[in-house]
Order: sequence, then C-alpha cells, then structure tokens
Amino acid sequence: CGIVGILGKEAVATQVVEALRRLEYRGYDSAGVATLEAGQLTRRRAEGKLKNLEIRLSTEPLEGLIGIGHTRWATHGKPNETNAHPHATGKLAVVHNGIIENFRELRAELQADGYVFDTETDTEIVAHLVTRELDRGKTPVEAVGLSLPRLHGAFALAFLFQGQEDLLIGARKGSPLAVGVGDGEMYLGSDALALAPFTNLIAYLEEGDWVVLNRKGATFYDKTNAQVERHAQRVAAGAFLVEKGNHRHFMAKEIYEQPEVVGHTLTQYLDMAAGKVRLPFGDKIDWKGLSRLTIGACGTSYYAGLIAKYWFEKLARLPVEIDVASEFRYREAPLPEQGLALFVSQSGETADTLAGLRYARQNGQAILSVVNVPTSTIARESHAVAQTLAGPEIGVASTKAFVCQLAVFASLALAAARARGTLSAEDEAGHVQNLISLPGLMARALELEPQIEQLSHKLSRAKDVLYLGRGTSFPLALEGALKLKEISYIHAEGYPAGELKHGPIALIDEDMPVIVVAPHDALFEKTASNMQEVAARGGRIILVTDAKGAAECGIEPEATIVMPDMDPTFAPIVYALPIQMIAYQTAVFMGKDVDQPRNLAKSVTVE
Ligand code: G6P
Repeated sequence: CGIVGILGKEAVATQVVEALRRLEYRGYDSAGVATLEAGQLTRRRAEGKLKNLEIRLSTEPLEGLIGIGHTRWATHGKPNETNAHPHATGKLAVVHNGIIENFRELRAELQADGYVFDTETDTEIVAHLVTRELDRGKTPVEAVGLSLPRLHGAFALAFLFQGQEDLLIGARKGSPLAVGVGDGEMYLGSDALALAPFTNLIAYLEEGDWVVLNRKGATFYDKTNAQVERHAQRVAAGAFLVEKGNHRHFMAKEIYEQPEVVGHTLTQYLDMAAGKVRLPFGDKIDWKGLSRLTIGACGTSYYAGLIAKYWFEKLARLPVEIDVASEFRYREAPLPEQGLALFVSQSGETADTLAGLRYARQNGQAILSVVNVPTSTIARESHAVAQTLAGPEIGVASTKAFVCQLAVFASLALAAARARGTLSAEDEAGHVQNLISLPGLMARALELEPQIEQLSHKLSRAKDVLYLGRGTSFPLALEGALKLKEISYIHAEGYPAGELKHGPIALIDEDMPVIVVAPHDALFEKTASNMQEVAARGGRIILVTDAKGAAECGIEPEATIVMPDMDPTFAPIVYALPIQMIAYQTAVFMGKDVDQPRNLAKSVTVE
C-alpha cells in the first residue's frame, strides 16, 4: 500500500491524489482520502483504481488544507469501500501500510472496553487504540506515543485528528516513510517519489521512529519516544525513480525493505483474517494428484527452491526433485506423467532456467513459475504464475527477491499440504499466524546490524569462510557462502553441518571463520555436536541462533548473533537477514562495489 499526508496552504485533495498516483504501483484495490472540512474529519473512498476516487472527488470535492490518503492492497478484509482507508473514528483518521500482527488480541481488548468495529481490517484497531487514549484525556501526540508500542508487526502509519488543522503524525516500523519539507508546507509519503512533484527536500524516518508535523517543521521521536534529529537532504533530480533513500547502496535498501515486501507478498497468498492460505490462482493446481514435484532454478533462486523442498516434503508429503537449471536442462531427466515442474527466477529471464522450463513443457509437465517480473519470458511461458512482490531489485546480489520467494513457497507448501490432507485446519491457522509474524521478526533482525558491522571487520581479514547448517539452515549456509563470495570476493563454502566430518573438517584452523546457522530447532543438538568438533580443533565459530541456542550450544563462540525467538518452520525467512547483512557489511568494509560486483550480472540471459 502507499500512504501520503499533506499539510498545505491550499486545498490538498488534488495533491494527495497526485501523490497517490505515484504510489499506485504499491497497490490499487481501493483508494481514499481524508481531510478536515472546517475542522471536521471528512472522507472520500472508492473501490478499485485511483480513477474511481478521482471521479468521486470531482462530484463531491474536498476543500481541506490538510489531508491524508491511501492506495490499498488488501490484507485484512475484502477490497471494498468499507474496508478502504482512511479508517476513522469520531476523533481521528488513519492510513496504514503493513500488517498489525496482534490485531486479534487488540480488537478483543478494545471491544471489551466498548469500542465498536465497522470493518474487518487491522487498521481500524489502530484508529480505536489511539482514540481510547484521546478518550482518556491524552493529547494526540501523547496518544500516539502511548499506542505505538502496543502494535506488533511491520507497518507505516499516518494520522489526522479532528479539529487539528496544523498536525499530522507519521510512524514507521518495518515499512518505509519519508517526510517532505516544503515552503510552509509539510508532507508524508511512502517514498520520496510520491512527494517529487512538491519537494525534493526529504528526511527519512529510521526504523521505529515517529514524527509530528506542523506547517513550520517536523519533530522526530525514536522508538523509546526520545526526541531525535533526522536531517532533510535534497534528493537529486532523476534519482527519484530508483532511489536509495538514506542507504549507501541498493543492496542495503533492499535488505531493509524485506519486512515490507514479505508482508506485501504474503497478503497475496494468505487470508489473514480467516487464518488460511489463499493462492492467487485458486485451485488451478491439482496438488493431490501429484506423485512428485520438479524444481529448477539458478543461483540464489535455486537455494530458495532447496528450502522449499524441505517444506513441500515435510508439510505436504510431496517428494521434490530439484536441480540447478543448467544441469537439469541437459540431464534428460525422466519426468512423471502429468507432473508439475516449478521454476524460480527473480528476473524471469535467466537463460538456463528458461531452457529447463521448455524441456519440462516438452515433456508434458504443467509449469508453475515463481517470478518477480510478471511480464517476463518465464512468466509468459508458464501455465500458472506465483508472483513475488519484492518490487524492482537493483542490487546484483539478490536479497529481497529471495525472501519473497521463500514466502511464496511457504504458502504453496501449506496449500499443497491442505489439498493432500496432511495438514489440519488448526495447524494451517497456526502456520498462517507464524507467517503473519515474519515481517515483524524481520524488522527485529535488522536491529542486529551494528553487531554484524563489528563482526564484519574481523571477517574481512579471512581468506576462506565455511558456513554450516542442518535442515532448512543448510540451504541458508549455501546462500550465505554465495552472498559473501559474490560481493566481498572472499572464498566461502556452505556445507551441511553433518558432512563436516566427511571432509571440510580438514580445513579447520585458527584462521578460518566457521559461520553456523542454527536456530534452536529439532536438529539443534546435532549441529551443536558439530560445533564441538570445530571448537575442539581450535576453529573460530560465529553462531547465528536464538537465546536458547546461545545458552545451550556448549561452546564459547567467537561471536553469537542472537535472533528473536520464533517457530522454526519458516525461520529461514528471518535467518536470511543476518546472513545477507554479514556479506553486505564485510564487502562494504572492504570497499567493494556492492551493487555491481565484478564479473556478475543481474540477469543472465546466456548459457
Ligand atoms: C544471477 C544473479 C543471481 C541470481 C541468479 C538467478 O547469477 O547474479 O543473484 O540469483 O542470476 O537469477 P534469477 O533472475 O533467475 O533469479
């Protein structure tokens, strides 16, 4: 979704719509605007594209000098006018991008206090939560400051208050939000691009920040409600379209976008309110009739497929055969009759993957592709397309596309499990709730950056790095090694932790860092034994785990990256983040060209 807020000198509704048009790529199920008409909150909303809202505004114009707007991609509740943003109580209106994880719990609490809900959306909960503080006599700024810590998940918000002609409040946690500074006018927008027609003087909210705007300026607060400085900078003309925001590299921007884009992707695959998976292409795939699933891909997309294999096999009892596309295409693999072949590609143009797809098609397979570019060749040659909504990925080393691929695979595996009768409705609801909590967990994982930055200084001196993991952490080990190789040019290998003793253990010495990815899951103890084997030989261990894993690893690692607690099934979607940050920070420290590493290309259209 996209959000906008304007404190203007003249009627702002037209400007709000203009900004929303620049955000329409973020969703277009419905759109809405709220202004103060003589101090009174007034809304206009419409189902469908922005055009419908414009038509509405042309017959019922708004005159207010302050307003907020939203273009929506439905998460909770159908894309109709009732569920369209802004959501309002008698005292405020709010627009929201992202997912409020604990919406059920907060709704029950507010209902018990007598608050009545008109919609199925998680956003309305935010409106009532802040209203309750206002009802208790708090000022708008106090009310928002008290309410934000209650909200779990990854989101961005903008508030407009009844009778407050010179006040807008914005908040960011896991979803981007920019502040635009004009001449006696102030703006809020999901990105600088939305604000480009009005100003190029932009300040970005940091993770957990919130901001109070009036026409004279902005006051920023951090997540502890302490006042902080966030400086506005000029965004160069032409830089708007693919802008890095306040990040040094596209890769950093893309790493930080991950909570948002995973949330965005999941909304297309889950019915969050019902606790069910809902695939965008409905029942087009006969999961039940499959004897086997074939997966092909290259590079990082291949590793996403490897993780998917664990999920399809475990959750849906569906055997998976997976290969790198360049091998698959020439291997003349026999394929099951009326089988399903799945190809994974960010670009949708990778030559080897496309050739694999064509081989599978010629051999009678139905083709499902997981792609980030819906107009790509791979998408066009598939029978069904599962799109990842990562948005354009500019950094050559794939990050946000990878986690979105995983989010899609998690949903597909659950859909397959339900169809094949290996998953109860109750377990499905539990998994769906775990998926809903991922963007919030990812936002927390990003907070590990300062620690990882320190660690990267040491890693930059290594000649070789070994990555170990078991279960779904094994493909993550492979991906970690690939990322480090790609952008820092340090040689790295990923290995299944259990294979250590069959070869790579010979490499262990006091120089080579061993990065172990091991959430405290069913396999943790096994991995812990492998860590002992490394420690006993004087090896340097960097452990990525959770609090329990850190307490029970039985060794003293050189460094431990402690991740938030989470259900282990879909944990790789969150554990991917420290893995990416390790590679990124190391390469930056070494002064490498992170976004365009030597010899690599974003989209490889040759064999
Ligand atoms: C290139 C990129 C990798 C990517 C691979 C597959 O090698 O450098 O980052 O994983 O292609 O690309 P695809 O677009 O098919 O996912």
